[in-house]
Amino acid sequence: MQTESCLSLIMAAGEGTRMNSKRPKVLHAVAGKAMIDRVLDVCPQGPKPVVIVGHGRQAVEEHVGSRARFVVQEEQKGTGHAVMMAREYLTQHEGLVLVLAGDMPLLTRETIDALVQQAQGKKAALLSSVAADPTGYGRILRDATGNVCGIVEHKDATQAQRNIREVNASVYVFEAKALLACLDALTCDNAQGEYYLTDCIGLLAQKGEAIGAVVAEEETCLGVNNRAQLAQAEEAVRRRVNERWMQAGVTLIDPAHTYIEEDVQIGRDSVIYPGVILQGHTIIGEDCAILQGCRIIDSQIGDGTDVQNSVLIQARVGRETHIGPYAYLRPGSVVGNACKIGDFVELKNMQVGDRSKLPHLTYAGDGTIGTDCNIACGTIFVNYDGKVKQQTHVGNHCFVGCNVNLIAPAEIGDGAYVAAGSTVVGEVPGDSLCIGRAHADIKEKWAKRRREQGRLK
Ligand code: UD1
Ligand code: MG
Repeated sequence: MQTESCLSLIMAAGEGTRMNSKRPKVLHAVAGKAMIDRVLDVCPQGPKPVVIVGHGRQAVEEHVGSRARFVVQEEQKGTGHAVMMAREYLTQHEGLVLVLAGDMPLLTRETIDALVQQAQGKKAALLSSVAADPTGYGRILRDATGNVCGIVEHKDATQAQRNIREVNASVYVFEAKALLACLDALTCDNAQGEYYLTDCIGLLAQKGEAIGAVVAEEETCLGVNNRAQLAQAEEAVRRRVNERWMQAGVTLIDPAHTYIEEDVQIGRDSVIYPGVILQGHTIIGEDCAILQGCRIIDSQIGDGTDVQNSVLIQARVGRETHIGPYAYLRPGSVVGNACKIGDFVELKNMQVGDRSKLPHLTYAGDGTIGTDCNIACGTIFVNYDGKVKQQTHVGNHCFVGCNVNLIAPAEIGDGAYVAAGSTVVGEVPGDSLCIGRAHADIKEKWAKRRREQGRLK
């Protein structure tokens, strides 16, 4: 099929002035993914895409890397001029060329495929939409029989033409040789003094060539020029993703305030509350409750687990476990089934066995905790001596009392107890009690005497 040999040209040299940003426009993210990545994702199979870069070219080239080839447009003299910069690649290419702008994050693969289909056997096909407010866009001109016969830019249009609401999306498929011939014929005799790629359509129509057209939803054709449109794109992606999960059997209490990136997976009958951000390759099991204020990145959560007001990064949590509120699971945290990781507990590079509990105010890093342990309030894994990080291992069925320091490297044997307030260095044998705290010195009647002396209230 022709799609196989379609070359993609992405125009990304413009300044994006209205973004008012230090960063090139096409590198701005929509739902966690740069706009240029979204455009690359919908390009058809074929030779490596060619990106036309100019403003901020180094950053764009570094970001895209080996996924594309690059040509530079030093001075931005219009979209026609931009495509001229890729002449060498067009000359080498037999067949169809998809030309599109790098700031169209809502394009879909289906739309592009339909456009490529439309272009079969023709010299060109374009994507259009019917805009509620067409101001600023190029208008699609159609002849008496409804065939596309040209595009007129807003600034060059007559009042009658400005009343047309069908607008040019700036996505085209051309036959390479025909495009090259049109580029040679372009002039900059127009209101903006630019080489307009849009003029190629009129030139081909004048030669009697039929122009294919696909009319898409207005939203699909959104071109992002400012931050308000960036937020609009974000909202649209969020809606697409959230609708998909609701259809798949996930309850979203308030989909407008639930932020799920596209690579996330969620099991049936899980409930996601407002203000939750699920990112990267996160996988949530079935029957989970992800309550308000969670940010979960590249993590896995087992069936029936609940998480609230917590941050999880590259963490793995088992089934029927309770996390939070206000827990922080940093990379390498692996928590088993039926555990509790409670409020103000931070884990890092730490394994916690099934049914173990760290209910409050604990830091545990660089170590392991076995099954059925209770790590009481205020326990600290002292893993860092200022130079190196060392490991602490707690066995199965251990009880570590409140306010204990476990100074790494340390080892607590199975079934051992560590008394509250102890500081542990080295090894505690299994089934033993470790108690390391200063004895309290009691001075009887001390407070009474002071009160009588008027030195205490
Ligand atoms: C263009 C179309 C217009 C269409 C609109 C849709 C032309 C002449 N007009 O107008 O019909 O309705 O898009 O959004 O094509 N670029 C370059 N080099 C340049 C100029 C632009 O690489 O010299 C790139 C920009 O980075 C951008 C894209 O081309 O990604 C479109 O350019 P822009 O200036 O936004 O064109 P519009 O005026 O919006
Ligand atoms: Mg534009």
